[in-house]
Amino acid sequence: MNPTLDPSSPIGVFDSGVGGLTVVRALMERLPFESIYYFGDTARVPYGVKSVQTIAHYTTQITEFLLEKQVKLLIIACNTMAAVSAQVVRDLSPAPVLDVIEAGALAALAATESKRIGVIGTPTTINSNAYARAIHAIDPAARLTSQACALFVPLVEEGWLDHPVTQLTTQKYLRPVLSENVDSLVLGCTHYPLLKPLLQDVVGPDVRLVDSASAMAERTAALLTDMNLHNPRNTPPEYRYWVTDVPLRFQTIGERFMGRALNHVHVAAL
Ligand code: DGL
Repeated sequence: MNPTLDPSSPIGVFDSGVGGLTVVRALMERLPFESIYYFGDTARVPYGVKSVQTIAHYTTQITEFLLEKQVKLLIIACNTMAAVSAQVVRDLSPAPVLDVIEAGALAALAATESKRIGVIGTPTTINSNAYARAIHAIDPAARLTSQACALFVPLVEEGWLDHPVTQLTTQKYLRPVLSENVDSLVLGCTHYPLLKPLLQDVVGPDVRLVDSASAMAERTAALLTDMNLHNPRNTPPEYRYWVTDVPLRFQTIGERFMGRALNHVHVAAL
């Protein structure tokens, strides 16, 4: 165990907005005794269409904010930030850092049999090639087909999870991926787990969906065990949320992502 890390400290999780709450939800289910501090940059979302420099700057600010709260572990829940700024976080943090891309890459390789893997994400995530790099670093024989799905984030935030418009959009985006005969599809964006039923319908029962949120919860549990950092206290966990703006419908959208009530939300200035 790192002597400077306190196992009873919270886990810090961050994202460009509310989407990372899918990761928080998976963590709460997998690790019900861990406290979680969440940061969502709701004033500046979406990141998925922004430049690498801008995302790195925002990521630095959020990392510093959470490190001041003495978190024992930092989780980059946002695929876009993980794709282009994971190193920025690792350079700043004395606490261990996990990112969704690493977790998703490992889960994809565990899921595939044919080694033909599809990846969907925001334009910035897909253009960065980060999933391909992470997967090929482990298995150079894997074959990847990637597709940017820019419209999924607004469709999910609109709550159109099984709307005909979303069905058509999904069919259009996934046609080139499915023509490569992938046997697994990585949901490389915080918002996509909410589209799972629709995606499964479109890809058919033979393609496995790899949910990077639940993959991250498994990685976190393993890391806490390896580093002897599980919370030793029997007190109820503390969940706190900081956002940079409280937009209209924030509560509705946040609760949809969380699957439960969203309490203790603070507005933070960076
Ligand atoms: N959180 C982002 C991701 O996982 C999606 C929203 C955004 O574009 O900021 O890529």
